[in-house]
Amino acid sequence: MQNFYYREGELYAEGISARAIAERFDTPCYVYSRAALEGALDEYQQALADSPHLICYAVKANSNLAVLNILARRGAGFDIVSEGELERVLAAGGDPAKTVFSGVGKKPAEMARALEVGIHCFNLESAAELEVLNRVAAELGKVAAVSVRVNPDVDARTHPYISTGLKENKFGVTMEEALRVYQRATELSHISVQGLDCHIGSQLTELSPFIDALQRLLGLIDQLQAQGIAIRHLDLGGGLGVRYRDEQPPSIASYIEAIRHVIGDRPLQLILEPGRSIAANAGIMLTRVEYTKQTPEHNFAVVDAGMNDMIRPALYQAWLDIQPASQRPEVQALDWDIVGPVCETADFLGKQRSLAIEPGELLSVFGAGAYGFVMSSNYNTRGRAAEVVVDGEQLHLARERESIEEQLRLEHCLPARD
Ligand code: LLP
Repeated sequence: MQNFYYREGELYAEGISARAIAERFDTPCYVYSRAALEGALDEYQQALADSPHLICYAVKANSNLAVLNILARRGAGFDIVSEGELERVLAAGGDPAKTVFSGVGKKPAEMARALEVGIHCFNLESAAELEVLNRVAAELGKVAAVSVRVNPDVDARTHPYISTGLKENKFGVTMEEALRVYQRATELSHISVQGLDCHIGSQLTELSPFIDALQRLLGLIDQLQAQGIAIRHLDLGGGLGVRYRDEQPPSIASYIEAIRHVIGDRPLQLILEPGRSIAANAGIMLTRVEYTKQTPEHNFAVVDAGMNDMIRPALYQAWLDIQPASQRPEVQALDWDIVGPVCETADFLGKQRSLAIEPGELLSVFGAGAYGFVMSSNYNTRGRAAEVVVDGEQLHLARERESIEEQLRLEHCLPARD
């Protein structure tokens, strides 16, 4: 089902027009479709219905409480990378027992909180972290369930900033080191070995890197088995790509089918940590054209969303589709650079887009549901955008637009000198 579509020239999010949303909540504004979020999660769950599995949505992709709550109600677990994300999961009604904790820099206090609420597993990223976790668990009289994140050294063939499974990346441990880390883990009284995990990168549009990584991990599981170390779950991380422009990523169902084919009848629980493939195409960002400015070289449309609201084009040269919320055949299409109000040359949402627009036009940036709002900042003292969820004909304000007072609240001038 299409959750964002045009009807009589007007863009709709489920049952509500983009124009109505912008009138009510102003711009810039992120809009998420509940049906789209649920639909993507269901695709994962259905493809795995008859085998042991846990879908741990990667909270970092879109951590709005309303989004987490929608997914939690539908049975999702969560992949977190900080105590803050853990508190979000709890506040949204997520189940800590279905939560895995990834990340290279977990602090003792974060580990303690995760042990206290009883998370499913810690995804360890180094030998040093194992020792710290054992100590923290001992202090609390708990046993920490662990998985070791290995770096299978496969090329995910994606943007270098979002490729994580090569041996030069900071993530995980090498296959050889993993054997030593597992050995050591079995010696520690407050550690219980449960799984093995990896995450090789994001926005992958081919299956082969996933399958290469999986085969290497299965080889490691066999080696561990031979040493008497049993692995109960295999966590393949996230990474499945989506279509932003003309990419042809595998469908969720064919991705799962390929994984299951390789795993065969091994008695393993499969854990996945999808972020983008659940949230990206469940969200758009609405922004309004404030000014148009035509020079001999360029037609600039200055919009009210900047790189502080959506940094992906500036940071990764990401291409996001941008379309007017109202199609207007009477306006002549020109090539526009869609730029924001921030004082940086990198502040653009798209370049050379053929669009029929005028000042005041409402635009939609598609594929904005993942790594959009969560990566926004207050650069140029710009308040963060509003976020809304559309549920059929219902509109729900999921996060208020940030006010200037809220931005200034944490700062303090020096006391006066006498
Ligand atoms: N698990 C781990 C351990 C991760 O590091 C990530 C993403 C995921 C799961 C979710 O991956 P996904 O299914 O979303 O590909 N800001 C970048 C993407 C960074 C991804 C970081 N890790 C972007 O906007 O493209």
